[in-house]
Amino acid sequence: MPRIYIETYGCQMNVSDSELILGVLGRNGYTPTDDPSVADVILVNTCAVRDHAEQKVLSRMGELKRFKQPTAVLGVVGCMAQRLGPRLLERVPQVDLVVGPDGYRGLPELIARVRGGERAADVEFRRWEHYEDVPPVRNTPISAFVTVQRGCDYRCTFCIVPMTRGPERSRMLDDVVREVTDLAHSGTTEVTLLGQTVNSYDDGAHDFADLLRAVGAVAGLRRLRFTSPYPTDFSERVITAMAETAAVCEHVHLPVQSGSSRVLKRMLRRYDRARYLEVVASLRRAIPAIALTTDIIVGFPGETEADFQETLSLVDAVAFDDAYTFKYSPREGTPATRLKDAVPDDVAGERLERLVAAVRAVARRKNVALVGSTHEVLVEGRAKRGDFLQGRTRTNKVALIGGGPDAWIGQYRDVRLTGTTGSTFTAVPLGRGQELAVVG
Ligand code: 5AD
Repeated sequence: MPRIYIETYGCQMNVSDSELILGVLGRNGYTPTDDPSVADVILVNTCAVRDHAEQKVLSRMGELKRFKQPTAVLGVVGCMAQRLGPRLLERVPQVDLVVGPDGYRGLPELIARVRGGERAADVEFRRWEHYEDVPPVRNTPISAFVTVQRGCDYRCTFCIVPMTRGPERSRMLDDVVREVTDLAHSGTTEVTLLGQTVNSYDDGAHDFADLLRAVGAVAGLRRLRFTSPYPTDFSERVITAMAETAAVCEHVHLPVQSGSSRVLKRMLRRYDRARYLEVVASLRRAIPAIALTTDIIVGFPGETEADFQETLSLVDAVAFDDAYTFKYSPREGTPATRLKDAVPDDVAGERLERLVAAVRAVARRKNVALVGSTHEVLVEGRAKRGDFLQGRTRTNKVALIGGGPDAWIGQYRDVRLTGTTGSTFTAVPLGRGQELAVVG
């Protein structure tokens, strides 16, 4: 049997796409391996969102060339493959195969062509493609990603994704519910719905509120998450559905990108600072214990120190539980590359440092206040270090639990948080008969 090795970079949708790729190849006789040196096909599933992500892949290609069997096929798939297309074959001689996110169905045939001596690229968009008939090969039975929407129709000026993932399309609600029902039958109790702007989900007859209610009603499903939503697609209907659907977890990743209305406008985000704060307030009114995380870009063209101060003050005003912070990275072909007033790299770097410090301070303050409270965690596995199990609260906080048996993996336990590093927690299981005051 031929063996397939996949390395995945970037977002959760890439993780989910790699599971689909294993599904496509699996039904063509391939078995997965985690050792590239024994693989017949090596694929690197890539991200294009920042230059740094692409540089990492390019240097990894050099390493993989050294491990790989001389006859093995080396392919680049995903967003960087889509962005560069056949140019990647020219630039990186060791690459035989380049396939974008809508081309995975064709992998067996493309691999056969490479075996026949060709170098092949497929970067076509297929707006009907949902891989509906492909059974994903997932590696954890506990928690699953389920893609419900592919592509993006928004036009944020910094973002390459509309050019790498093509037009937005949603799967039919019944198809999603069927997949989640199957997952629940096989013991999965937590599902994360994925889409580029997942709460703009629209299958022609149902919106995201309908989807949350339908998936939340699947028997056996205990936790429902989704990522990433777009702030202004949180309609009252969606927020009400979240509040009324017991499985929906008390955590939203709500990318803000900047705290300055002026910068948001240049980014072509569809809200200003005040509107974003209104969405936060609506979410908190409906779901008081909700945890909020975000994405922030610094050094976007034209960002002044005053704009940046607005970002810092927004971090304080919202009090995010955590934030992913990035230095703006110009992406060829995106509208922002034509904006004037580039921010010098050293200025952007220095802003990033101040932002990281501000985010950490707020997160620490919030997390310290949680020490002593009790939570339900889903035990996900053994922690990397020490004799701990790793669990996750509904609010998406990671807790390391001392002294539990492996048998708890995959189970839900009530724990008391006993300490925090500022970002993660230590916790102890609540004994039987102890009072439960479950928060969040
Ligand atoms: N430069 C820096 N960060 C970016 N992101 C998207 N495009 C860029 C870019 N050109 C960030 C945004 C987005 C996250 C996934 O990546 O914050 O929410």
